[in-house]
Amino acid sequence: MMYRNLILAGACAALFAAGCVGTYSSSGDPAAGDDDSNPGPGPGPGPGPGPGPGTPDAGTGPGPSANAKPQFDSDVAPILQASCALAGCHGGTGTSPLKFLPPSMADYYDVVTSYDDRVVGFFDKTVAPMLTRIAPGPHYNNVAYTPAQVQAISAWLDAEVAARANPGPGPGPGPGNPPPLTPGQASKQLIATWSGCMTQADWDAAQVAQKWARKQTNQGQCVACHVNAQGGFMATEDSTRMFGVYSSNKYYMLAFFSPNVTDVANAKMEINRDLFVRVGTNVFPYLEHPQFNIDDGGAMAALQAFYDATLAKQAAGTCGPPRITP
Ligand code: HEC
Repeated sequence: MMYRNLILAGACAALFAAGCVGTYSSSGDPAAGDDDSNPGPGPGPGPGPGPGPGTPDAGTGPGPSANAKPQFDSDVAPILQASCALAGCHGGTGTSPLKFLPPSMADYYDVVTSYDDRVVGFFDKTVAPMLTRIAPGPHYNNVAYTPAQVQAISAWLDAEVAARANPGPGPGPGPGNPPPLTPGQASKQLIATWSGCMTQADWDAAQVAQKWARKQTNQGQCVACHVNAQGGFMATEDSTRMFGVYSSNKYYMLAFFSPNVTDVANAKMEINRDLFVRVGTNVFPYLEHPQFNIDDGGAMAALQAFYDATLAKQAAGTCGPPRITP
């Protein structure tokens, strides 16, 4: 009862309110991966088996643009390692929650900055999730930054803006093949492609909206609390409305689907089953959420059917234009 009242009070009642968007990172997402995400100069064109199109390298490009990496490495990386890198949080493997911290601290910079919107907020300290999700109050597991840590992260974000505004002289992009995608780029691209592969017809046929809206918990159906996307999850029997949100807003889409970019070259969308297991069985931080069995009621099966249809379009190359731009 308390719980229901709490949400009806509307911490996040307005659809698309900024506060709703803030829930995305707990909704799970890409394994930031163990891959080398360094966008810097690659091995260059070697004497190998010829200039096949499938083997990107950095060519003679200029390498990373001006940045404040040294400041990140000295002032910010240790904070992230101490506060955020637990395997159940943003380190370790899997796709959920967003794994933006690779095993070695030396690789943090490349992976963290590759999530340009979802982690660093394009280096704008007023919106950067790595700051705004933590600074106002305790985050999951009661993680909080000290004022000095907030200051250090803010100062680094500002330094990035300054460095990037003035990249200095140097060669322009070289004629080589583009460097390999970073995990953040791969995940963005996949989200964009996937959004164009989703169709209303497949969504309707699978009955995703109806099955999720009517799915039962020990405190009523999902629709009772999530009809207006409270808490960052939307469930409504209005199939067109629900499809519109899930196909065009990445933060909602990522509740259902999660890019696996552990192997950037073979990035693959997956069903974000982890999130629903955690929510439905009260795994931290969802300690007070109504409980449900993930496979009951056909909601997961509907999602699977929709996923299969969407994946088939992706494989066949019959997708429409992205509804979410990379
Ligand atoms: C009694 C109200 C209530 C019911 C019923 C309910 N939820 Fe929730 N749900 C919430 C609230 C409040 C939150 C936000 C706080 C939290 O994370 O626990 C939430 C959060 C979530 C989230 C987390 C979103 C994120 O990104 O962190 C998911 C997913 C979710 N609910 C799914 C479901 C599903 C699926 C059902 C039905 C099987 C359901 N909920 C039923 C109240 C409810």
